[in-house]
Amino acid sequence: MAFISMRQLLDHAAEQGYGVPAFNINNMEQLLGIVAAARKTDAPVIIQASRGARAYANDLMLRRMVEAAVEMNPGIPIALHQDHGDTAATCFSAVQNGFTSVMMDGSLESDGKTPSSYEYNVAVTAKVAEASHWVGVSVEGELGCLGSLESGMAGEEDGSGAEGKLSHDQLLTDPVQAADFVAKTGVDALAIAIGTSHGAYKFSRKPTGETLAIERVKQIHAKIPNTHLVMHGSSSVPQEWLEIIRKYGGDIKETYGVPVEEIQQGIRHGVRKINIDTDIRLSMTGAIRRLMATRPEEFDPRKFLAAATVAAKDVCKARFEAFGCAGQAERIRPLPLDVIAARYAAEDSRRAA
Ligand code: 13P
Repeated sequence: MAFISMRQLLDHAAEQGYGVPAFNINNMEQLLGIVAAARKTDAPVIIQASRGARAYANDLMLRRMVEAAVEMNPGIPIALHQDHGDTAATCFSAVQNGFTSVMMDGSLESDGKTPSSYEYNVAVTAKVAEASHWVGVSVEGELGCLGSLESGMAGEEDGSGAEGKLSHDQLLTDPVQAADFVAKTGVDALAIAIGTSHGAYKFSRKPTGETLAIERVKQIHAKIPNTHLVMHGSSSVPQEWLEIIRKYGGDIKETYGVPVEEIQQGIRHGVRKINIDTDIRLSMTGAIRRLMATRPEEFDPRKFLAAATVAAKDVCKARFEAFGCAGQAERIRPLPLDVIAARYAAEDSRRAA
């Protein structure tokens, strides 16, 4: 089995009514944990790397690790996705490095922090979508800015995110504008702003409809039923891992994530890609802290990293199961990217006729 186009994977998820987690990686242990969970549950998966991850691990190293994961797990369809591309150049360098999917985040200017104009977002995203589709690579756009509906604050994480206070309008994607954006850009998937934000500090108490606007997902899906919706900032911030981190010397304040049941509601209304990074980071940190504290004589890094890999695997397994993704891998036959490219070309000619 080979890499899969994210579009093909999300089309399958839409047909069958499930959601695909998109897990961020920076290193081998995160990848091994994710892939072990995918194998255990027979789930397809999106592996994504931010610009920060690409700089940390090196493009070649990342690419070869994910290639190895694909080769070692022939039954698991894997899409490799650029998370939060800040410019067209970032997206195309990802394509050069073998990514099968890119996110052009034109909701922010190329500095990755200033909210952009709608016209800029449309222009840069349409450019990336047109060229990426020529080679069968899928494209995710973003409309609206991630941030807290509780405080109005935007959130920067891993080098991406607006700065300062945002208006309610900026923090909630407008359904009518979403339809216009998809028509003008031709994106395969759309990241929407509904009150989620990256990182561990999303909500100061369990979210309600006021702070996490699942209703907005329904309204957007009603307008663009054929576009796959993406929920960023979708870590659930497991309280049990926070307790372990605190117990073994970590300092994480009271905080809440996106409840799995809310994500499941989203999946019933067009959400197909669910971005998760923080949950893996928290569980790995908790596992490492616990082992270091309980086995102070240990100095073999493999022991700490193996425990962290198991923790990551357990979190991922729970998400594959909760999102209905478990058991789907064997039902998908990944098509080569040139076949996908030919489909985009056929769609274009139909539209032009
Ligand atoms: P979390 O920080 O909630 O895991 O979100 C990650 C994300 O959205 C990456 O794009």
